[in-house]
Amino acid sequence: MGQQQVIAIDGPAASGKSTIAGLLAARLRVPYVNTGNMYRAITMFALDSGIDLKRQCSGKVFTPLLKKLKLEYVRNASGEYELLVNGVPPGPKLRSPEVAAFVSPVAALPGVREWLKDIQHDAARLGLIVMEGRDIGTVIFPGAKFKFFLTASPLERARRRLAQSGETFDGATLESVARDIAERDRIDSGRAVAPLKPAPDAEIVDTTEMTIAEVINYLAGRISNGRS
Ligand code: CDP
Repeated sequence: MGQQQVIAIDGPAASGKSTIAGLLAARLRVPYVNTGNMYRAITMFALDSGIDLKRQCSGKVFTPLLKKLKLEYVRNASGEYELLVNGVPPGPKLRSPEVAAFVSPVAALPGVREWLKDIQHDAARLGLIVMEGRDIGTVIFPGAKFKFFLTASPLERARRRLAQSGETFDGATLESVARDIAERDRIDSGRAVAPLKPAPDAEIVDTTEMTIAEVINYLAGRISNGRS
């Protein structure tokens, strides 16, 4: 496969990827695709279908379920691309702790990842895109023109997650959030299929000491220089 018109942004949980990827895409005026939301949508659909994911998280459960699920990216009235789950926006539950608690085991299922691959590849028809996730530079678009791997210290990531609006954290503390993030990273990095890791040709950007504007400026500069 030749070079793909994709800016791949990978990295661990709460490293600031979504914020950065969204703002970078807006600045470049290109579509932004958040693949974590796709795994969250599948997890939410399973929970809403009454599946007890604590006991039943297997390919066998998901094969029939995925036949009833349609995920698509469509352009909304403000020109942004929006994820629709069976035709409707998923709403705030997508980012709830309940969904977050099960998303990593769901994302470790090879059948789930395979099912999403076509949908993710299909997004490249939009032209240059920013795609964010865990395996975009390694597995989904190994020929991506630009590859960045965003990291930050575990403590800083927990701080950012706690401060993030739109997420509900009843009774959460910095310690409990840090623990949840560490557990998700452990599952994501240790899984057999498409584990979380930088692509050999990705540029690793440690954002611990950087503001959002600094990260955006840095990435935009790298992209306009035509290298990553
Ligand atoms: O925003 P946050 O860092 O919490 O995570 P996310 O991007 O919403 O992704 C949620 C989960 O989906 C991750 O912890 C992974 O288990 C999974 N995921 C994945 O396996 N591969 C991707 N390309 C994106 C997400």
